[in-house]
Amino acid sequence: MVSRVIPVDAFDLVIFGGTGDLAKRKILPGLYRRFLAGQMTENSRIIGAARADLTDAAFRTLVGEAIAEFVPKDRQDKKAIADFLDKIAYVSIDATGEGGWAKLQGLMRDNVVRAFYFSVAPSLFGDIAERLHLHGIADAWSRIVVEKPFGRDLDSARALNAVLAKHFTEAQIYRIDHYLGKETVQNLMAVRFANILFEPLWKAEYIDHVQITVAETVSVDGRGAYYDKSGAMRDMVQNHMMQLLCLIAMEPPYHFDPDAVRDEKLKVIRALKPVSPEHIVRGQYNAGKDEGGYIEHSENPASKTESYIALKVNVSNWRWQGVPFYLRTGKRLRARASEIAITFKQPPHAIFDDAKGWHENVLVIRLQPNEGMNLMVMIKEPGPGGMRLMQVPLDMSFADALGDEAEDVPDAYERLIMDVIRGNQTLFMRGDEVEAAWAWTDPIIQGWEARGDKPQGYDPGSSGPEDALMLMHRDGRRWREIKE
Ligand code: BG6
Repeated sequence: MVSRVIPVDAFDLVIFGGTGDLAKRKILPGLYRRFLAGQMTENSRIIGAARADLTDAAFRTLVGEAIAEFVPKDRQDKKAIADFLDKIAYVSIDATGEGGWAKLQGLMRDNVVRAFYFSVAPSLFGDIAERLHLHGIADAWSRIVVEKPFGRDLDSARALNAVLAKHFTEAQIYRIDHYLGKETVQNLMAVRFANILFEPLWKAEYIDHVQITVAETVSVDGRGAYYDKSGAMRDMVQNHMMQLLCLIAMEPPYHFDPDAVRDEKLKVIRALKPVSPEHIVRGQYNAGKDEGGYIEHSENPASKTESYIALKVNVSNWRWQGVPFYLRTGKRLRARASEIAITFKQPPHAIFDDAKGWHENVLVIRLQPNEGMNLMVMIKEPGPGGMRLMQVPLDMSFADALGDEAEDVPDAYERLIMDVIRGNQTLFMRGDEVEAAWAWTDPIIQGWEARGDKPQGYDPGSSGPEDALMLMHRDGRRWREIKE
């Protein structure tokens, strides 16, 4: 299969925080890959903007190094890299003062899309937005891209929305949640809304429960200072896991259109019931044999921040009445494995007298790694001797099904940046969506802060704290094994 690459309109993309970690790891290598794929037109340009006093040449060297480090070797083409670097300029800019803005203004061209990526601390959003306007750099068609964390609670998220709204309309603001840029996450919508097979069963009548797991093996070493103020709830649940839950639980939108999709997601977030403390388990990883634990990595000996969380969540609407959604995510777990598993109810009447007694269908959508889908179905155990049943997978690996095309799939950032240039907001969070997510998250966090709850220790390389197992056992259910 040959992948189809449709070039986007010519653009000037300014990356504030152009020398930062995200720019080096994701944004610049991602843009290079899109260039290589032929998606960037000849006259598109990238302008790095940061405090450091660098020449264009020095910034290009930095971009070249980022490509060498973060782009797979087989995609590093000397000539393409040189051509790509030719499209890059740099401005040293003072986000809170006046230095550099006139130069940036002079670099911007008419008749191309102007996009501004705010890869900086949220405290600078207001200053940058204001100066873009003051210096006539942004126009009514310009787009701005902002990163998570978008606030740390409802009040701060509202304040950020208000600061941006002073100078930009909602249609100009692209709030990134990189999970929405993942191929398999979008596949959730394709599976649900382009197949007649699943949707009729997609409701409380037929679904027993849903499990959403985002397990990571990495620790927070190196980013402990940020993480300790955040924790798994703010870092993963309020955004990425909430988006996954929305895509599973939302009603079919009338069209795959930005506001139609986001309206439906918003309804799900608003329908989330408050979560009671006994339906939450928080964990913190212990030290391992050769490695420090969370406490050492966060450098806060008294830290009560969770590096793991499991929750039982209910969506309070007609479709999902009584269907629990079990969510869990954590660092330093047994394997890097993210999946969504939808367990269907038993058939209403058992005609087989097999000893097992359970006849369970499970649809597993593997988000990463080994992206694919697995439908567990019951069949007859082979051989004579009566009707014994067994569960087997109808297994589809996207890599096998799609061949080379699966390898060429753009990474989340590449896709999302191209969507910004195309002016397509479907995979970005709307302001009201982010606020609704915080409105649900805030009381949960406030609750454990008020009670002084401490997370439970768990061993690195395990499946998380013991109590998390109990969260499901109490309901007569069990977590799926965490494995790659
Ligand atoms: C980020 C979180 O948003 O997502 C990190 O801040 C987390 O803590 C990361 O590790 C996970 O992303 P991915 O794409 O590796 O699943």
